[in-house]
Amino acid sequence: MRGPLVLGIETSCDETAIGIVAGRTLLANVIASSVDEHARFGGVVPEIASRAHLEAIQPALAQALKDAGVTLRDIDAVAVTAGPGLIGALLVGTSTAAGLALGLGRPIYAVNHLAAHISVDYLTHSNAIEPTIALLVSGGHSSLLKIDDITHSITKLGATMDDAAGEAFDKIARILDLGFPGGPAIDRIAREGNPSAIDFPRGLTTSGDWKTRPYDFSFSGLKTAVARYLENTPTYAKADVAASFQEAVVDVLLQKALAACKDSGIDRLVIAGGVAANSRLRALAEQRCARAKIALAIPEPALCTDNGAMVASLGALMVLSGRPASPLAFDASSSMPVEAISL
Ligand code: KG4
Ligand code: ZN
Repeated sequence: MRGPLVLGIETSCDETAIGIVAGRTLLANVIASSVDEHARFGGVVPEIASRAHLEAIQPALAQALKDAGVTLRDIDAVAVTAGPGLIGALLVGTSTAAGLALGLGRPIYAVNHLAAHISVDYLTHSNAIEPTIALLVSGGHSSLLKIDDITHSITKLGATMDDAAGEAFDKIARILDLGFPGGPAIDRIAREGNPSAIDFPRGLTTSGDWKTRPYDFSFSGLKTAVARYLENTPTYAKADVAASFQEAVVDVLLQKALAACKDSGIDRLVIAGGVAANSRLRALAEQRCARAKIALAIPEPALCTDNGAMVASLGALMVLSGRPASPLAFDASSSMPVEAISL
């Protein structure tokens, strides 16, 4: 049983990505990244990203069709990231998708990038059971969610008050001179460091915070603490700072995710988004979930960072659940809220 053949298009940030799935089976996952063009600016430059998408999207589409061994005519539905993201970047994907859907006479599903990050897990854990708690941690977003139906019902339990988790990694990597993007660089150097060398603060974990903001995050105090430590410690060991910073982020993410599971009586947790590729987060999540008897699901690292497979996966789940398609003339939404699964 193959299920619907769905093409997924992702262009919300600096990855031009095309995925093709047949139901819950991944057939192709092509990613062209413009990250090298942004590195010298220390962050993604929207105009450069949009131009790079325009150049990369046709070759990426051709490659994905070739990898999957299908033609455009075989595609049953087109799915595309409609938001959130950089508007000029989103528009390259959404106009390509609308053109394909119109030309092929197939339905289009204009889906949420954040829900797509979570739905990619359904490709690997194909009998994923709902409800589940989701910890969604990316470069632009960090939140705790209750998923009753990934195609229909997402409830926000809490979110970051300031920086996203990935953004905190990128900023600390920058002051440690580790380059961009910072997450993978910190992950790498932290392996040589001592995670308990420096006791950095865990944001929003006082007893008062647990009462008023149990599922919210804050990383700005941590960022300041790291900066102050570096100023006051001229002989600091970079690997120890990276490992201790990473430990502080990962510890607080998991404390709050496990609290959400416990309080809601849901013994399943999925962790998704670029930061879910972090090796320490993955290892500590396994330990703590095993101890708390929580079933843990994390997509493989390559499917955690932005990709087209996640968009195709959510599109296929929408088709399989009989959800209505989107109107062809939908508007991309740079600030699409996490609860809005599709347009
Ligand atoms: O989901 P994603 O690819 O793009 C957004 O939707 O934002 O997430 C990118 C973020 C970046 O901030 C990057 O530094 C972070 O994910 N990231 C990591 C790792 N790999 C990527 N953070 C920590 N450890 C990693 N191994
Ligand atoms: Zn993302």
